[in-house]
Amino acid sequence: MKSSLEDFLDQSIRTIPDYPKPGVQFRDITTLLGNARAFRRAIDELVHPYAGLKVDKVAGIEARGFILGGAMAHQLSSGFVPIRKKGKLPHETVRVAYSLEYGVDEMEMHRDAVKPGERVILVDDLIATGGTAEGAVKLLTQMGADIVAACFVIDLPELGGRKKLEALGVQVNTLIA
Ligand code: PRP
Ligand code: ADE
Repeated sequence: MKSSLEDFLDQSIRTIPDYPKPGVQFRDITTLLGNARAFRRAIDELVHPYAGLKVDKVAGIEARGFILGGAMAHQLSSGFVPIRKKGKLPHETVRVAYSLEYGVDEMEMHRDAVKPGERVILVDDLIATGGTAEGAVKLLTQMGADIVAACFVIDLPELGGRKKLEALGVQVNTLIA
């Protein structure tokens, strides 16, 4: 059964059928972001497991992970690292190809964005197949980051992403399934 928090956040999210491709039920968090209570509550819940822990950086995945990650970094007094679609970052990068529920792409981060041993939390709005988050974990691991956890507002468990990350040894925290 869903908790009242899960219900509240769930009701603040809109579903768009057949976007961006036929058959995809797109979970649109812009309605959660536009609702002051829901946005604040989501950020509070996302940072809750890490209160009192040393967190050097929050790494957010473009684009919706930037919005959540910026707010989390502020609350945790951490730095923020953008993980971007290819060709957007100006300095020297590491790059990885990945696939997601509805396509393939490449993502990058700056080589100097994380120092070896830094404790990093990865964040995105949603985990579906886990291909995107797995790509981000590869980049962070390549740079020597210590990944404390990966967190998401929404988990689509039937697509297996959470299990994929856990099999890589990454702790996963989510707010709604
Ligand atoms: C969405 C979502 C995640 C990814 C999850 O991003 O924000 O990053 O898909 O899918 P997966 O678990 O199957 O990999 P999208 O690629 O649509 O990018 P956007 O945030 O720039 O719209
Ligand atoms: N990314 C991958 N699958 C998604 C979905 N169903 N809704 C929103 N973002 C997604």
